[in-house]
Amino acid sequence: MPSARRTWYHTIDLPDGGATPGWFDTRQAPAHVPWPADLAGSRCLDVGTFDGFWAFEMERRGAAHVVAVDLDDPTKIDWAYDHRARGPAAVEEWGSGRGPGFAEAAAALGSHVEWRPRSVYELDPGRDGTFDVVLCGALLLHLRDPVLALERMREVCSRHLILVEAVDPLLDVVARKVPCARLRPESDEWWRVNTAGLLTMADTAGFEVVEVGPRFVVPHGPGAPADHKLSALGGLVAGRPGQRGLLTRALRARPRPPRG
Ligand SMILES: C[S@@+](CC[C@H](N)C(=O)[O-])C[C@H]1O[C@@H](n2cnc3c(N)ncnc32)[C@H](O)[C@@H]1O
Repeated sequence: MPSARRTWYHTIDLPDGGATPGWFDTRQAPAHVPWPADLAGSRCLDVGTFDGFWAFEMERRGAAHVVAVDLDDPTKIDWAYDHRARGPAAVEEWGSGRGPGFAEAAAALGSHVEWRPRSVYELDPGRDGTFDVVLCGALLLHLRDPVLALERMREVCSRHLILVEAVDPLLDVVARKVPCARLRPESDEWWRVNTAGLLTMADTAGFEVVEVGPRFVVPHGPGAPADHKLSALGGLVAGRPGQRGLLTRALRARPRPPRG
């Protein structure tokens, strides 16, 4: 029985038949990810894991060792000026500190994923090692410097980068071929890119994009308040009229040598 005292981000199916009451429901999302042919035996890293959905998914797909990183200290979040003073206390009030949900879900699943307190900006091959697969979901939009974050991921990534990122529905349609981003569409965001912008960020940080998945939406989960409605535009743009959610795009890339 998942703890009701905390705010869960992820909806995670549990062996007792229940599920964590997540704010979001990413359970259909893995079907839209262009995974490498096989994760069996691989070393995988999940960056910004929150309650661990993607880390557990990679373990389920046969990874030999999965490391999940997130911030243990909410003051390290890239708060914007107006949120810096109150933000960390609000994380505590909401019961959404990173780590306890992961630990609870990992115990229920009998998972061996290793959780490490780490900012993406601190990833270091000397300390963290390197990984066959580095997966990062819905984090770049929350970072002041997403390209620096991708460069840090590049340093610990030996074979595959997987990004699963929210994209801006309007920019993805009206400026489809122009790499761009909307600045601060929500109070806890910095950038919401379009697909072309996501590809350009990955390329700029030293990755060659190999495969891009289809548009899909991530809907609210059972823990979201009933009066909190996600945009219907995401569903429309993803070819799912009537479905509300975050328009999302996943891609697979590989580290490339410098050009020129
Ligand atoms: C929107 S949630 C996404 C959770 C999950 N990755 C997913 O795709 O479903 C963003 C996560 O990134 C984490 N995060 C924010 N800033 C970070 C940073 N600088 N380094 C590592 N993780 C960070 C947050 O704590 C949170 O767990």
